[in-house]
Amino acid sequence: MEEVKKDISMEYINKLYRYMKKDSSIEDFMEKFHMNQTELKGILELCRIYGKNVSVIEKNETLVFEKSFPRKVITTKPDLNPTDLIHTEICVVSDTHFGNIHQQLHLLNKVYEEAYHRGIDTVLHCGDIVDGNYLNRPEQPRQQFLHGFDEQAGYVVDMYPKVKGIVTKYILGSHDETHYKNGQATINEWISRCREDMVYLGQDSAAININGVKIFMDHPGGGSAQAVSYKPQKRIEILESDYKPKILLIGHYHKSYSFVYRNVRGIEVPCFCDKTQFQQKQGLSNVIGAYFLNIYSDNKGNIQYFEPEEILFRPNDMWDEAGKDKNKVKKLVIQ
Ligand SMILES: [Fe+2]
Ligand SMILES: [Fe+2]
Repeated sequence: MEEVKKDISMEYINKLYRYMKKDSSIEDFMEKFHMNQTELKGILELCRIYGKNVSVIEKNETLVFEKSFPRKVITTKPDLNPTDLIHTEICVVSDTHFGNIHQQLHLLNKVYEEAYHRGIDTVLHCGDIVDGNYLNRPEQPRQQFLHGFDEQAGYVVDMYPKVKGIVTKYILGSHDETHYKNGQATINEWISRCREDMVYLGQDSAAININGVKIFMDHPGGGSAQAVSYKPQKRIEILESDYKPKILLIGHYHKSYSFVYRNVRGIEVPCFCDKTQFQQKQGLSNVIGAYFLNIYSDNKGNIQYFEPEEILFRPNDMWDEAGKDKNKVKKLVIQ
């Protein structure tokens, strides 16, 4: 397959410009694209640099876009040049729960194929690679086609997508940790010995730096909350200010949500395992998908523009316990 290279910055500015409808509210726009006011100012400046005539005016006490007769431009960054920004695109996945009969490896493969076509070199995995083995959930083995440490760790080594040019950096989560609790076995030990394209960063959390941008990966424990934003906001509140990242990626909840809070861009990363019996009983929702993140940062690691692209799969994309996913999916290998 040939590599696809594209001018993503121009493409995104064009896309955003199309959404800046005349007289439409900037509040709605910022909410749709998960953007704060500083980011909007940067985007307006990029539009100006690309020769697109758009500004913001006040109309009926609301700030709206004005495309033909600019009166009051809110940008204050005339020196911002898109060529000065560092563009980074990464893919984020989580909670693959390998070994569970509801796993969706074929959808994970689709996401890796897409990452390959976009020329992405880093995929981050936010934990729960395998389904684990909870001694206090006697019903769990019936929900699994791989039991115990050897079968699950071996499956990761054998079946996790292996794609030329892509390194998967991962943390381990609550389900992975059950193997350690049961007998001090760690999945990362065997992945590291057998897969050079998979890099272990830590149990439950890890801080990394990509092109100068601080990213924190987090796999909390405990139950989910009904309000999708509550727990992620709490995670940001407990981050020490010295370690405050620009982006926080949260696995474990099997939800999809992106937000800006206290100047941190947060992403709750969905999963690759259809709703389990446990979740059904607990009344927990479950979302399958991934994120592609387009990050435009300056040379100090500050994000000037951020676009989280949510990839969600629909119920008829799932292959379930009839066994198609576990039996029919081949390992994705792109050499
Ligand atoms: Fe999970
Ligand atoms: Fe978890």
